[in-house]
Amino acid sequence: MFHLAWFTNPRAHGWTANGADRWAGNDILPERWQTLDFLKDMARQLESACFDFIMIEDHVVLTNDKQNLEPRIDPMIVMSVLSQVTRRLGLIGTFSSSFYPPFLLARQIASVDHVSRGRAGWNVVTSSEDWAARAFGRDKQPPHDERYAIADEMLDLIKQLWDAWEEDPFEMSAETGRYVDPTKFREFEFEGKYHRSLGPLNVTRSPQGRPAICQAGSSPAGRDFAAKHSDVILCSTFGRNSVPALKEFRDDIRERMVRHGRDPDEAKVMFLISPVLGDTLAAAQHRYDEIVGMTPTILAQRLGRLTLHTGLDWTKFDLDAPFPDIDPASVEGFQGFVASIKAKAKGGQTLREALSEQETTSLKLIGTPEMVADQMEAAIAEIGGDGFLMHARPLTRRYLAEILDGLVPLLQKRGLVRSTYETTTLRGHLAAF
Ligand SMILES: Cc1cc2nc3c(=O)[nH]c(=O)nc-3n(C[C@H](O)[C@H](O)[C@H](O)COP(=O)(O)O)c2cc1C
Repeated sequence: MFHLAWFTNPRAHGWTANGADRWAGNDILPERWQTLDFLKDMARQLESACFDFIMIEDHVVLTNDKQNLEPRIDPMIVMSVLSQVTRRLGLIGTFSSSFYPPFLLARQIASVDHVSRGRAGWNVVTSSEDWAARAFGRDKQPPHDERYAIADEMLDLIKQLWDAWEEDPFEMSAETGRYVDPTKFREFEFEGKYHRSLGPLNVTRSPQGRPAICQAGSSPAGRDFAAKHSDVILCSTFGRNSVPALKEFRDDIRERMVRHGRDPDEAKVMFLISPVLGDTLAAAQHRYDEIVGMTPTILAQRLGRLTLHTGLDWTKFDLDAPFPDIDPASVEGFQGFVASIKAKAKGGQTLREALSEQETTSLKLIGTPEMVADQMEAAIAEIGGDGFLMHARPLTRRYLAEILDGLVPLLQKRGLVRSTYETTTLRGHLAAF
């Protein structure tokens, strides 16, 4: 069996610079997504399909790419709201280790774990954008590997904050007049290289104890961080459509986990996919071609995304020259992203050709639901585990219906994914198989 999860963000979907997707309907209206109406419907549907979790992507500031501005809603608020319209679905929010004081973040995530009865998770990102640093009163972001060192220390502190309370601290005694037994938590001072704090939290131990940790780095420092701390690891080969590359990633993470003294089965590696379905292969292929088609505005969007993720200005490169020879380790942004597109372009691709592929997923899945189910089954069998993180492109109610009412029931019928939840917590869902 394998796991399924959903990747999205609280912003207008189905909206492109070319106009709205013909199936996006009213969901692109500000009052439909900014009130989370669409997201609430989506979360309920994902829960009916027994997904492990919904993952809420985030960037804390607008990009400086004025053509592709993406206003959004804060993920902590989204998780809180979704926790109240679902009962089983895991809720993972993205929070940057660079911009939250550890005490505040530990407190908020533990609070969401309480109100969701054990379904909260944290996607740890370190954020490379200097303009985000400036929004938070700093000049610039620390270098790539140091950001992971800062996050590593933050995780050590946050785990101590989450661990400080014993399971049942409630005395509730009219005789002593105490609601909480003061011996049931550990007071401590944390003095690290980057962080200082005083525990415990004023939130008691949450249902999961430690909400699930999720991470998506693919550079050596990112993989090491993920192997040390994560319960879920998200993997994209950014368009390098290769099962061996996914297997290499998972095997490497598992080896690193062993080096950190962990059982590799403790973490699930989830591969990012955006299946494109149709009644026939030709119909699906036609839709795929439409989605990835390189109009000038789509090209500008992709260059903008590359610039956002890498911190380099990609508009200065010749689109029709061989892919630029950039050392991934010299990039302060997503190093794994650069390494992957560079590997993909190795056969002499130009920058334009490299951009013409759907660049953020791991496996190209195009066809009828049966064909895509076959490919997913074969890929997991070859890789060895653990599941898929689905990303709609574009995200519309039609896309949701195709996946959740078309593809997922087929996978369920084959016994490849769950048909009912085995447990009530996110950690429980992840550990179920
Ligand atoms: C599926 C997926 C989701 C991600 N979500 C976010 C996100 O919400 N916010 C963010 O700043 N970075 C996000 N990232 C980027 C990663 O956190 C990480 O910075 C990136 O993969 C580069 O890491 P590396 O330099 O270690 O290779 C995501 C990456 C992947 C593959």
